[in-house]
Amino acid sequence: MTAPRMSVLDPAGPQAAEIKWLWDIFLGVSIVVWVLVVGFLVTAAIVARRARKRDPEGPLTKSLATDKRRAQVVLVAGLATVATLLVLLVLSIHSGDTLAALEDDPEAVHVRIVAHQWWWEIEYEHDEPTRSAGTANELHVPVGKLVHLELLSGDVIHSFWVPSVHGKRDLIPGRTNRTWIRIDEPGVYRGQCAEFCGLEHAKMSLTVIAESPEQFDAWLKHQREPAQVPSPTDAVRSRGMQVFNGGPCVLCHTIAGTTAGGRLGPDLTHFASRATIGAGTVPNTVGHLTGWVIDAPSIKPGVHMPSIQLPADDLHALVAYLGGLQ
Ligand code: CUA
Repeated sequence: MTAPRMSVLDPAGPQAAEIKWLWDIFLGVSIVVWVLVVGFLVTAAIVARRARKRDPEGPLTKSLATDKRRAQVVLVAGLATVATLLVLLVLSIHSGDTLAALEDDPEAVHVRIVAHQWWWEIEYEHDEPTRSAGTANELHVPVGKLVHLELLSGDVIHSFWVPSVHGKRDLIPGRTNRTWIRIDEPGVYRGQCAEFCGLEHAKMSLTVIAESPEQFDAWLKHQREPAQVPSPTDAVRSRGMQVFNGGPCVLCHTIAGTTAGGRLGPDLTHFASRATIGAGTVPNTVGHLTGWVIDAPSIKPGVHMPSIQLPADDLHALVAYLGGLQ
């Protein structure tokens, strides 16, 4: 798998392109200003050095006329600085307005993202509440389509930031922020919380998968289905389901179609379809999942998932059950 795209210099949608445009202008202006300032500085040093060599005791200013001219140069330079800053300010405001303007499109996909300690809850709503799909830490979107994001928070301030897609937008308790994204190139994009939120700040990444509208529809249809029930002939996974439903897991996690309805941790209905565990902390493999169940706090310090001590057979069965939740 190629590395996910994650750079403001590598835009994949109109929002990021606008930010890149602004960045290019700031960079260009800054280079010109830097070259001019350093050029004048070096020239001044050379001129002063030559003058000192010619006449070590001479006065710094030759005449009133030179003094006046220098004052004029400083004045012009000052005015040019103010004008440049004003132009950059106007361009910044223009970009800010462009990013904030909510484009309307009846075809837009609506996604709700809720910030938690320490994960991203992602919900695709449906008119029938039982058909809404919940997932975590992985946002799927159709390529080229407008996606409206509703950003909320339960107990923490995160900042939603996918550098190749969009600017930063905070998720704040007690407030609903809205923004939109559109990704024009299929691929995998990495997001990262951009607001220092506590112990887990560095481990708050988010994967965004932009796929064709057909792939996205199929994915969403599947996500809206209840979890796969292990076949009765699969003794290990059936045992795993019992371990899950009989243990502490149900207090925090939901698996649609079972009695597990906890809302404190990520929805696990289609857990195996996700690529990572712990908001991008480790890959979703049997080994990492086993380690995560036994001792999540050592993998992601500060995580609210407790260490779960289980007999080896039960652990094996539980991991097999979760690993089958495609
Ligand atoms: Cu959330 Cu940093």
